[in-house]
Amino acid sequence: MAIRSLEVQHFRNLKDIHIKPLPGLNYIIGPNGSGKSSLLEAIHCLGRGKSFRTHKTNRLICEGYSSFTVLGQVQQHGRQFMVGMQRERGKSTIKLAGRLIARSSELTQALPVAVLEPGLHRLIEEGPEHRRRFLDWGVFHVEHGFHQIWSNYRRVLAQRNAALRSGGPRASIVNWDQELVQTGDQLDQARQHYLKNLMEYVSLYSQKFPDLAEVHITYQQGWREGESYADYLAAQYTSDKERGFTQFGPHRADLRIRIQGVDAREYLSRGQQKVLVALLVLAQCEQMRMQDTSVVVLVDDLPSELDTDKRRMLMQSLTETGAQVFLTGTDSSLFPLDDTEHGMFHVEQGQIHVAG
Ligand SMILES: Nc1ncnc2c1ncn2[C@@H]1O[C@H](COP(=O)(O)OP(=O)(O)O)[C@@H](O)[C@H]1O
Ligand SMILES: [Mg+2]
Repeated sequence: MAIRSLEVQHFRNLKDIHIKPLPGLNYIIGPNGSGKSSLLEAIHCLGRGKSFRTHKTNRLICEGYSSFTVLGQVQQHGRQFMVGMQRERGKSTIKLAGRLIARSSELTQALPVAVLEPGLHRLIEEGPEHRRRFLDWGVFHVEHGFHQIWSNYRRVLAQRNAALRSGGPRASIVNWDQELVQTGDQLDQARQHYLKNLMEYVSLYSQKFPDLAEVHITYQQGWREGESYADYLAAQYTSDKERGFTQFGPHRADLRIRIQGVDAREYLSRGQQKVLVALLVLAQCEQMRMQDTSVVVLVDDLPSELDTDKRRMLMQSLTETGAQVFLTGTDSSLFPLDDTEHGMFHVEQGQIHVAG
């Protein structure tokens, strides 16, 4: 799957551009502030309906204009379809194959986009929501039905929380427990199964990086280990009632990432953390390839901690997963696979031209 044509209008400093990327590697080169990351953000919008740098989508509209448009032609298994996003007066309109869509999950399914950006280490260093997002993005793409399970769980959780807040009788609250436990267990199972399989790919790649060779990731389910969710939920009733929300469950799940038995947060430098996250994303791409799904990977400046060999290895492995890769850099010497067929786009003050 690949974006074969991309049009962007009034998106950050990109006024009006039209490029035809290659299915494999695409290098985006230009000085700082020229618009390289903006181009990646525009592609991200096509796959996720929002940027990876801000949740404030209005900020993406070029100053002095009232809307932006991103339009892509996607090729998948020999078929072509269009995907487009427009933002105007605080409202996003997303179209997929000529049809207006209301849920961004449809977009995510049609055009899986992964990002390697300079803030990558947050997945290791910061709160569990980063790791849950990473995990759930992967499960979503390989386990059909996962999105539905998640939506069901979220809906029941919201209903139980509303009942907890309303101060009604106990029955009005525990009334939701059975359904919450049922969907929660499904969510839990799907994640555990996914992670077990993912770890095979993680080991495969991490062996190529001696300092990351012994990486272990364990799933933390979000409530006390060794106890059923049903029992734990029942035991927490009084405490949940006092706080006015469901404190534990799959919505609190996390991943514990360890290197040689030590928490990766404590053991790895920030640079090594970025490399580790890049490997995790690579593992996800390879796992998806085994299920006949390929990914668009946006690489916003490769971590400077990677030497030339490691950069080569990472990019080579990514392209071998069948991913379409967009990699930015200020200098073409940062692009490790210059002998492989690639597209080369020069960005300057929001204008793009194809290198000959
Ligand atoms: N809404 C906007 N309208 C116009 N220009 C913007 C907007 N948001 C950001 N910019 C400008 O776009 C330029 C390109 O930024 P960016 O894509 O991050 O550059 P690069 O990644 O090439 O260093 C910056 O100079 C930034 O100030
Ligand atoms: Mg940038």
